[in-house]
Amino acid sequence: MVRWRTLTGLLAAALAAVTAASVTVAAPAAADGGTMTPYVVGGTRAAQGEFPFMVRLSMGCGGALYSPRLVLTAAHCVGATGANTSITATLGVVDLQSSSRITVRSNYVYRAPGYNGNGKDWALIRLATPVTGLSTLKIANTTAYDNGTFTVAGWGAAREGGPQQRYLLKATVPFVDDTTCNSYYRGQIIPAEEICAGYASGGVDTCQGDSGGPMFRRDATNAWIQVGIVSWGNGCARPNYPGVYTQVSYFASAIASAAASLGG
Ligand code: ARG
Repeated sequence: MVRWRTLTGLLAAALAAVTAASVTVAAPAAADGGTMTPYVVGGTRAAQGEFPFMVRLSMGCGGALYSPRLVLTAAHCVGATGANTSITATLGVVDLQSSSRITVRSNYVYRAPGYNGNGKDWALIRLATPVTGLSTLKIANTTAYDNGTFTVAGWGAAREGGPQQRYLLKATVPFVDDTTCNSYYRGQIIPAEEICAGYASGGVDTCQGDSGGPMFRRDATNAWIQVGIVSWGNGCARPNYPGVYTQVSYFASAIASAAASLGG
């Protein structure tokens, strides 16, 4: 079992390297060394505008636009709660190099109270300037949507150990119940706080650099609703090791209170 949150620094360095060099995107057939799996561990390219709430964060994580001023991400992507102008958020594009990208600096980080590297893996980043014109992603505040098939998206690695991506990738993964997930992970899942998703056969998953990004599905009104935050896993897309996500419904009221305290 590997908790990748300890690799955040490495990810940031890797991302910086990727950004510095001109980014090449591997052809699908070569993306994982020549097998048939294209792109994000079983994913495909997202269309421009398909997931307008997706955010890329400069430390090498993902996030979701919760409100014009707030980005919901993972606690393991950020430092302690307090003023913080070190993070740049990139929004509004699938291509991180696009000249139409929106970049905004952070001015405050709110990390889940009691976060100690085990569970409670959520945080809010406040942007210095509100971003208007992009739809936000609402969060699930009941367990009603904690089942079914989920969509995940991010600019993280397209294969375990692989480079960060220039273009947003997406995939769908099925819900895995806590009992099954805990049997795979030998009791390391926190059932109330975490929700698992993936195929027993592997092949489709989030990966390093997708952390903090949303896992979402359609609600009863056909709107996207966020049920998870990319948190951790053993490698990426390995058989019998689903992705582990922060269970948003469990923290929804804490997230909403924190958001209100940050000015909404
Ligand atoms: N914690 C990782 C990150 O920092 C994400 C790991 C997700 N792993 C997985 N197998 N779903 O980007």
